[in-house]
Amino acid sequence: MNGALDFIDLKSQYAALKDSIGERMQRVLDHGQYIMGPEVAELEAKLAQYTGAKHCVTVASGTEALLIALMALDLKPGDEVVTTPFTFAATAEMIVLLGLVPVFADIEPDTCNIDASKIEAAITKRTRAIMPVSLYGQVADMDAIHAIATRHGLAVIEDAAQSFGATYRGRKSCNLGTMGCTSFFPSKPLGCYGDGGALFTNDVALAQAAREIRVHGQSARYTHTRVGVGGRMDTLQCAVVLAKLERFEWEIAQRLALGDRYRALLADLPGVDLLAVRDNRDCVWAQYTVFVDQRAAVQAALKEQGVPTAVHYPKPVHHQAAYARFASHEDFPHSIAAGARVMSLPMSADLTHSQQDRVVDALRMAVAR
Ligand SMILES: Cc1ncc(COP(=O)(O)O)c(C=O)c1O
Repeated sequence: MNGALDFIDLKSQYAALKDSIGERMQRVLDHGQYIMGPEVAELEAKLAQYTGAKHCVTVASGTEALLIALMALDLKPGDEVVTTPFTFAATAEMIVLLGLVPVFADIEPDTCNIDASKIEAAITKRTRAIMPVSLYGQVADMDAIHAIATRHGLAVIEDAAQSFGATYRGRKSCNLGTMGCTSFFPSKPLGCYGDGGALFTNDVALAQAAREIRVHGQSARYTHTRVGVGGRMDTLQCAVVLAKLERFEWEIAQRLALGDRYRALLADLPGVDLLAVRDNRDCVWAQYTVFVDQRAAVQAALKEQGVPTAVHYPKPVHHQAAYARFASHEDFPHSIAAGARVMSLPMSADLTHSQQDRVVDALRMAVAR
């Protein structure tokens, strides 16, 4: 048997970009401005241009982007934020960390994104914001979410940690709400070589607030006009992302094509259901996630054949001990059902067709057992 596949192949990406990454990093080492060096502003300009948002503020991680976005809105303890329970914990975590209250609304069973038709029932007098997550790389129904937000005077923060590069009705993820927050965690569609993230907005006051919060609330050196955090993305990580932007469009095209190819190859496989991608948007497949019966057995059989898998995520947030107090009378059955069946397959822009065929053949054998 061949060696095990990588779940996410970052080595081939590095091999393709080695020279540019090396040159970019060397330039930082030469100028020595490790914090807030020129690459920070250069990256922010390029990312703003890419998404179409007026402002981009790079920050220390995707988690930090969510925190700073919520802080910039100046919400008060006890204010409520409507979000999905089927996400990585960071989404709810930053809400709770600020003394805000996450109020969950269940997901659409076929996309695993928040069901916009369930949001209005979760809104109360204390609601201040809606925080949809663009899970797996597909944006939620932002037009419907905006209509609700406008009716109730709420902000919309897109947790776009998994969806940088995705498109919704011709507009880019991260530029679809009051603020968009993404992550450059190495395995994300656009990743650095450590932690990094960015926040996007078209609102100049929110952008300014985010810039100040990122540096301990300073409006000028040692002038602390608000409470902030140490939330900068360092210059070396910005240099890595700048180098990776060189072939990012190609990578997104690859991801979309590989997603289509998985869909064609996996259609009609018994016990396997595919994630729906809505007509007016795409999915950049931060990982290629399917629904599968007998998941543990299938994962074990795939592992035997050198095909790694992962589960994003086994338990919805309100079933995690730290967040159980935010469960409501409703148990969000679609989130629980998704948690029991989702399984992510290897995906990256450099996945070859023969590697992809190997994954599909292994899955076909695993579900036939
Ligand atoms: C949906 C979601 N939100 C937030 C985050 C946090 O991003 P980071 O790891 O960069 O802090 C992640 C990262 O996995 C995520 O998937």
